[in-house]
Amino acid sequence: MTDTVIEAKGLVKKYGDLVAVAGIDLEVRAGEIFGFLGPNGAGKSTTISMLCTLLTPTAGVARVAGIDVVHDPAAVRQRIGLVFQDPSLDEQLTGRENLEFHAFVYSVPAPDRRRRIDEMLNLLQLADRAASPVKTYSGGMKRRLEIARGMLHQPQILFLDEPTLGLDPQTRKSIWTHLNELRSAKGVTIFMTTHYMDEAEYCDRIAIIDRGKIVALGTPEELKQMVGGDVVTITSTQPDDAAREINTLLGVTATRDNGSLRMEVPDGKAFVPRLVRELSAPVDTVSLRRPSLDDVFLKLTGRAIREEEVSSRDWNRALASRWMGRRR
Ligand SMILES: Nc1ncnc2c1ncn2[C@@H]1O[C@H](COP(=O)(O)OP(=O)(O)O)[C@@H](O)[C@H]1O
Ligand SMILES: [Mg+2]
Repeated sequence: MTDTVIEAKGLVKKYGDLVAVAGIDLEVRAGEIFGFLGPNGAGKSTTISMLCTLLTPTAGVARVAGIDVVHDPAAVRQRIGLVFQDPSLDEQLTGRENLEFHAFVYSVPAPDRRRRIDEMLNLLQLADRAASPVKTYSGGMKRRLEIARGMLHQPQILFLDEPTLGLDPQTRKSIWTHLNELRSAKGVTIFMTTHYMDEAEYCDRIAIIDRGKIVALGTPEELKQMVGGDVVTITSTQPDDAAREINTLLGVTATRDNGSLRMEVPDGKAFVPRLVRELSAPVDTVSLRRPSLDDVFLKLTGRAIREEEVSSRDWNRALASRWMGRRR
């Protein structure tokens, strides 16, 4: 027996003709924080829902905690905690009452309930507000309460679908701190989805998913090494001339990214002075940075993730544009 706690092979989900998940293979190890990263509509929720036994795969197999999700969904559910997008707290009840209710539903043994609830309230820094109704909580507190709730029956694996969606950057960061603490305190494996590229940096390993397929998998560092070197971005009032010169004089391909030109070079510090010296086209601003996961996504898919931010309510628009022959 290895320490693999989530395993998927050839996982597929179709909705009619639409292939939402197009054959996914992955293995997650015990104690990892594993991130599933991709733009809206990539198939993140569909995949996590299959792993959590909420959706039945069209094809392929998945084992969670060593148990086949199709053969014994009830056994899988006992071993996992869920923090999913739909808000499911009772706003009228207090934080503690919400947890008590959940502990009851999940048959947490009565003698353990209070201790576990207190432990989770402390870990997620909700103890001082536990007696207040949830309707008085901030967005970040509600999310923390949902995480506390998902942990009450002491799951081996915690699944979270976009746990930081809609929170401000500072609150998003605090959720990450709490997830890290939970992992250290309880040794739980965390599988989570996000479309925030910057957040994936906090994961031990990430799978980048695009159009139902994993396009890259590794540690954030490994993925960033795929880009190779540095990213230089310039703005110019004559971007076409600048791009041509960068190509002919410096031998580098510059791609248009909105109003700017973007290029990947092995050594940015050496490149920037040459760029400024040799170009006759005007250069207004120059920036130099290490590659981010955005750059990895761009390299792998040819698109920036923000262009793909189609909310699920724009589903019809996405369908319409595909129908009209746009590449998708
Ligand atoms: N119940 C459904 N019926 C039909 N299509 C769906 C359904 N749920 C999701 N989809 C489609 O499947 C694709 C993947 O969706 P989803 O897994 O929700 O992506 P993500 O979570 O990455 O945003 C999208 O094209 C979405 O519109
Ligand atoms: Mg989703």
